[in-house]
Formats: sequence, structure tokens, C-alpha cells
Amino acid sequence: MTQSCYPVPAEWAERALIDQDRYAAMYAEAATDPDGFWAREAERLDWVRFPKRIKDTSFEEADFHIRWYEDGILNVAENCVDRHAAKNPDRVAILWEGDTPGEERKISYGELKDEVSRLANAFKTAGVKKGDRVTIYLPMIPEAAFAMLACARIGAVHSIVFAGFSPDSLANRIQDCGSKLVITADEGLRGGKRVPLKANVDAALGEDAGKIVETVIVVRRTGAEVAMQEGRDLWYHDVVQAESTDCPPEPMGAEKPLFILYTSGSTGKPKGVLHTTGGYLVWASMTHQYVFDYRPGEVFWCAADVGWVTGHSYIVYGALANGATTLMFEGVPNYPDFSRFWQIVDKYQVTSFYAAPTALRALMREGDEWVTKTSRASLRVLGSVGEPINPEAWEWYYRVVGDSRCPIVDTWWQTETGGHMITPLPGATPLKPGSASKPLFGVMPQLVDSEGVVLEGATEGNLVIADSWPGQMRTVWNDADRFFQTYFTTYPGKYFTGDGCRRDADGYYWITGRVDDVINVSGHRMGTAEVESALVAHAKVAEAAVVGMPHDVKGQGIYAYVTLNAGEEGDVALRKELIQWVRREIGPIATPDALQFTPSLPKTRSGKIMRRILRKIAENDFGSLGDTSTLADPGVVDALIAGREDAT
Ligand code: WTA
Repeated sequence: MTQSCYPVPAEWAERALIDQDRYAAMYAEAATDPDGFWAREAERLDWVRFPKRIKDTSFEEADFHIRWYEDGILNVAENCVDRHAAKNPDRVAILWEGDTPGEERKISYGELKDEVSRLANAFKTAGVKKGDRVTIYLPMIPEAAFAMLACARIGAVHSIVFAGFSPDSLANRIQDCGSKLVITADEGLRGGKRVPLKANVDAALGEDAGKIVETVIVVRRTGAEVAMQEGRDLWYHDVVQAESTDCPPEPMGAEKPLFILYTSGSTGKPKGVLHTTGGYLVWASMTHQYVFDYRPGEVFWCAADVGWVTGHSYIVYGALANGATTLMFEGVPNYPDFSRFWQIVDKYQVTSFYAAPTALRALMREGDEWVTKTSRASLRVLGSVGEPINPEAWEWYYRVVGDSRCPIVDTWWQTETGGHMITPLPGATPLKPGSASKPLFGVMPQLVDSEGVVLEGATEGNLVIADSWPGQMRTVWNDADRFFQTYFTTYPGKYFTGDGCRRDADGYYWITGRVDDVINVSGHRMGTAEVESALVAHAKVAEAAVVGMPHDVKGQGIYAYVTLNAGEEGDVALRKELIQWVRREIGPIATPDALQFTPSLPKTRSGKIMRRILRKIAENDFGSLGDTSTLADPGVVDALIAGREDAT
């Protein structure tokens, strides 16, 4: 196989913040003198008290702990807002482009400070104290960033729930972390369609979650009529109007919680990933600066949603910590037409553009014209995140979007890692399409076999990280044991990522995808267990097994196998009903792409479902089903193959 490689252009090697030699020197320093390296990187922030204790971590069971900068004191909002407002009050902090072209807002750092302070005071008035949790269920509007930073300012812990999640998913997340306050909008607006956010909150608070939440603050976005519950619901514009713009930032210990973000795992309900204050912000700021070669004055656009970790770290925390102008886009790539992204790039003279491969694949299908009719001359760096990028999409991104001028940083990381882990640096790393390439400073990747033996050289295995880095999650909210069990017991003494990976002869890492029961749908993580439990909650379903299937645009789609209760018939109508059911239970991102009724599931004699077989059938790959002799009923395989074509 010939594999293309793009060397670092000379002008990049000369002008980049980090060139090849500097990368090597810094990587070596972070490995041999972590305390020295990370103390220096901590200087990028303003501290109330600069830390003396830098790295204090162990992944060993007997002495398990992860602490960074523990005696340091700082405030995240101070670092993301106030220090820039003091120096450059008129610099634009947030550029907001609404769903409808022409709708826009510009918020300077000075204005951001006032907005955040007012809302922070409103939270206090509502009784929110340091350490309390606040759930944010907002569309992509500036108030989402205000709410995050207002929490950080007073030491409250935010939990953002993606505005595409169902009332049920919202309720579970509110309950798990015990939020006192929920902030939402009347409706969201995406691609011209309205999303009934306030109604969803009302539905979520109908049951147990309603007993926890004391206050709901509602942003008026579309002006739709919504029910307001006396004594609980308040309009955003009313509450902030009454507050002062003076709200001193709360001094926070570096290890105090900053936010919780729920993410799907291979088992059980979503986990509340907890990130803390000091290490997270150093990591978000450092990666944003080095990976995008960010320079003051540039316009940075991360096209993710703030409901995902990418939005947390790169729309808000990393970008604003660096005093950047961050662009926030409410809409979708294909509305009003397929040129929207590139029109926005031209309109705001965007320098870095960062998106998921799924969006690129969807746009690629529509032809080059939508792209080439725009200029894009302002672009310097392109980024990819969330799922493996296939070389075809990579080449298209490079040639058509970037006019073969802009390096692509294919950033591998996870909700758990807080920020980028394995990625090219634009001035240092020759690019290989499809490879996340090399680890960042302080990241110690290893590939291990299923026994945990560390594999050397060019090889393929399970990706683990051998030592801690500042941006690492600290625990699962309320469940320290689950944190340890999930990430540190598969390969004792190492953090297990859940990803498979190949390393080539040049030491480049190529992520091959999840090796656990997590499906990556359009760059979003979906636990198969979650979809299965939604399906079995339906009265007619006896059993369900869910696997990933290859999907041209989404990367992976959701394939569900369903066994019905005796007497029920699996017809077209019921299939539709079940697909809608899952969509309602979890949210549109969980909508199954295929659903196959089957009289039984392939199980071993001990009752374990053989997912390997289900995956192969979903892939239409019947030739390599492997050993089926251990099945309790080998005949089930033929029945599954026969039923395959009715699934989609
Ligand atoms: C996958 C998103 C290949 C991976 C930031 C990981 C990637 C999961 C890449 C985390 C990439 C993320 N190349 N795969 N550049 N980036 N992934 O928590 O499987 O939503 O484990 O974080 O996405 O998804 P999460």
C-alpha cells in the first residue's frame, strides 16, 4: 500500500510556535522532568496562589490518586474573561452566528465580563453556592458560554446536557448530580427547525428530578409561548437585569470540580466525567495554543456543540483562556445550503476551523462547487475530531477546503482526557492522512495485547496511557469505584482508553476505533447497553442486542437485533415504532439505522451473547463468522443471515 505523507512546509517550520526540534525537546523534558515542565506551563494562567506541588499521581491500586497543582488557587472565569477584559476590553470574545444567515452577535471581553458577572449574581440570588451543581440545557447561543463561566466564577459545578437529548436523558443527568438549578431556552433553532427545550425540561421535571430542582432560568430565544411555573421558572432577561455587574471571582483550589459531563461507556448508564480546575485549564489552554498554532487576534472556530467535550475545551475554555475570538455557530452545515460553513469562514475571516469527519463526509458528497465558490483564504489550520477520518475525506478536506495550504490536525482525545492527546502539530509533524500521529507533551501512549503485555515497534493493540497528564478526568461523579474499575483494572497501572490502535514504523499512531461496546455515531459516543435498555423497556420487546455497522456518512450506524415477546409479530409498523421509541427515550442521535427482528440471539452455552457474530452480520460479512460451534444453537446464525435484508 502506498501511503501519502505531507512534509511540514518550510514556512510553517520557520514560523510555527513549535517546530520539529522543539517538539522533540519539549516531549523529552515533559517525560524526564514533569514538575519543571508543568510548572512552566502553569505560568500561562493567572493564579491567586501559584502551586508548589505540581504532579502527584499514581495509577497503582494501592496508592491510586490523581492530583495536579494541588496547592494552587485560581479561578477559571478570571482566567478566561477578566484578565483579557482588563487588557483588551474591546477585543471580541464571542462571535455568534445564528441559525438564520444575517442573525449575529458580537460580545467583547468587556461585555463578556458584565454578562458573566450578572448571571453569576443571579445564580447566587437563586441560592446556588460553591460546589452546587447547575444543569445547562441550552442551544448554541452565547448564554451557554455565559452560564458555564458564571458557574466557574462562583465555584458551582456545571453539567451540560446536549440539547438534542430527550427529557428522560435530561432527568437522569439532573438526578445523578443533584442539580438545584436548570438553565434552558424557550426553544432551540437548528436548520430552521424548532426544538422544544423548555417543554422537555418540564417533562424531565415531572417525576423525581422535579423534587431536586428549585429554579429554572429560561432564555428567550425564539419567543415561542412556553408554560412558566410560578415559583420555579424565571426569565433570564428578568433575572440578569436585576443584578449588578460586580461579582468577584471565587478563589478555587486547583483540584476543586469545574464541571461534570456525562458520557456513554460500554456498560450501564452514562458516567458523570468530572474535570477539575487547574490541570484542566492548563491542558485546554496549552493544547489550544500549540495544536492550532494559535496567535492573538485570530478567529478560532470549533464547529462542535457545547454539549460535547470538544465544545467545552475548544469553543469555551481553551480558546477564551488564550484570549481568542471564538466563533459560535447555532446552525447546521447544510442550512440554508451546503456552502454555509465556508460562507461563515469568509464572513468572519476564520483562521482555524475544527470539525468532525462526519460533517466533512456529508459535505463531500454534495460536490466541490459549494466549497470552491468561496474564498477560504483566511484559513491557516484545519482540525478533525471525534472519530477516525478516512483518508478519502482527509484528502478532500486538505485539497478542496484547505486548497492544499493548511495542515490538518487530526486530534485524538476523549471526554475523559480533557483535551487533545495524540495529534500532529502543524509546524512539527509531517502529515499522514488518517493518522493522529504523535503524542503531546506528557502523554505516554502504549499498545498492549489482551494480556496487557506491552508491544514494541510497529504493531497493533489496545491503546493505554501509562502515566497521568494534567487534563485527565479525576473521577466519576459520586462513584470513585466505577472510575477505577472502568479505566484502571483492565490493564493494572495504566489508563485504558477503550480504543484500538496501530503504530507504524515511524512511530505514528492510527486509531482503529473502539474495542469495547461503545459505538461512535457521527463522532458521538453511544453505549450499546443504553440503546438495548431503551429497547427492552418497550412492552413488546423481550431481548435486544445492539452493535455498530459501517455507515458512509456517520462513520458508524446503530444496528439493533430485537427478540419479541411470545405472540408479538415483528412487522414493518412495529419496526418503525421501535426506532421512534429509542429516539424518544434517548434522543435523535440514538436512532437505530437498522433493526432486525430475530427469533433468538446467538448465545454461548453459558448465555453470553456473541456480539462478534452480530457485528459481522450487521456488516454484511457472512464469510468470516469465525467459530460458531460454541453457540448453544448454531442454527440461529442462518436465521440471522436470512433476516438481514429486512433490517434497513
Ligand atoms: C474517538 C471526543 C479517531 C475515539 C473528543 C475516542 C477518535 C472517542 C478521534 C472519544 C480521532 C476521538 N481519531 N478516533 N481523531 N477523536 N475519537 O469522548 O474512539 O466524545 O475514544 O470525545 O472518539 O469520544 P468523546
